[in-house]
Amino acid sequence: MPQLNENFLRLEKNYLFINIAKKIAAFKEAHPEADIIRMGIGDVTLPIAPVVIEAMKKGCDEMGVKETFKGYEDSGAGYDFLREAVSGYYKSFGADVAPDEIRINDGAKSDCGNIVDIFGDDNTILVTDPAYPVYVDSNLMSGRKIIYADSNEENGFAAMPDESVHADIIYLCSPNNPTGSVYTRTQLKEWIAYAKKNNAIIIYDSAYEAFITDPDVPRSIFCIEGAKECCIEMCSLSKTAGFTGMRCGYTVIPEALKVIASDGTEVSVAQIWGRRQGSKFNGVSYPVQCAAAAVFTPEGLKQVHENIAYYQENARIISDTMTKLGVKFTGGVNSPYIWFKCPNDMKSWDFFDLMLEKIAVVGTPGAGFGKNGEGWFRLTSFGDRQRTIEAMERFEKLVSDMK
Ligand code: MLT
Repeated sequence: MPQLNENFLRLEKNYLFINIAKKIAAFKEAHPEADIIRMGIGDVTLPIAPVVIEAMKKGCDEMGVKETFKGYEDSGAGYDFLREAVSGYYKSFGADVAPDEIRINDGAKSDCGNIVDIFGDDNTILVTDPAYPVYVDSNLMSGRKIIYADSNEENGFAAMPDESVHADIIYLCSPNNPTGSVYTRTQLKEWIAYAKKNNAIIIYDSAYEAFITDPDVPRSIFCIEGAKECCIEMCSLSKTAGFTGMRCGYTVIPEALKVIASDGTEVSVAQIWGRRQGSKFNGVSYPVQCAAAAVFTPEGLKQVHENIAYYQENARIISDTMTKLGVKFTGGVNSPYIWFKCPNDMKSWDFFDLMLEKIAVVGTPGAGFGKNGEGWFRLTSFGDRQRTIEAMERFEKLVSDMK
């Protein structure tokens, strides 16, 4: 009889956003007339930039012509034209990342979940809490020991290293999902120093970098000196360019990142990851890579930034409502997420139910992201403008009535 990987039994029965979708479906069935506004999952709503769609169509046309048809891409790491475009993008904000340090993927989530394959199960994993559930879930699946660094109200939801604790692999996310908090240059230097002291690797999730407006907040960990010897970075076009339904992202593993194997040999992490991908991943479709490359052209960047500006204005509307109501929050600036304290010290899931039942607005309960998320709540600014305004009018009434 086949045996299960019983580590899966240690996971929550459903992934957070599946649980929320189920709750919405049940509510809809009970209240078919309800006008539900969704501000839960961080999914974009604006159409993809025209220049990006044009590039994708051109890529599709090329696939239909013998002379330009493409089968497998030889390296498996992504087309050179896209890796060069990503490298140029990194350079534009001061990160020296070479094209051959970049691998194209189908969005950050896959690499984020799969990277654990190349590390031994005896590693101690450090996750800041609250966090994107994939970091914890993917390590629980292989039975690893996870320790947590508390992000909380006291430290502005930006946990810093505890020198008395050892970790081998560290997950950081800035701008942070779910809290919208960001690490400054000085704070990232501290994390890098800690990683080096512990011979650890930082897995840095920069999926929300395009929302950064503050010049003191780095757009990449590779803007910080010393990062190349101890960091891996994962980024995605999902939030930058509306690719949640297109699927494309990239992972950077620098040449300089090495691990010493048990026989004492020095091993390149990029080489091992490439080996893993060679056996388990056949790359991203050519038309999608054409579309992705168009994002990094001057016109592409201009068009995607118009969409980002729209979401940033939504974030301002949500933040202003919190300020007006005297509700404590982080995020909203440098981030599409607003992370607020539930009124009247309510628990996150209770507040979720209350919002759904009383005002038909869906958010994400902070407790779904870890223990320090209890009592907090996340709203996304990725919605339609009028619906965001409407949701905030309903929210204002709800919270005023609770006082
Ligand atoms: C979220 O809502 O946290 C995001 O959708 C995460 C993701 O992009 O997978």
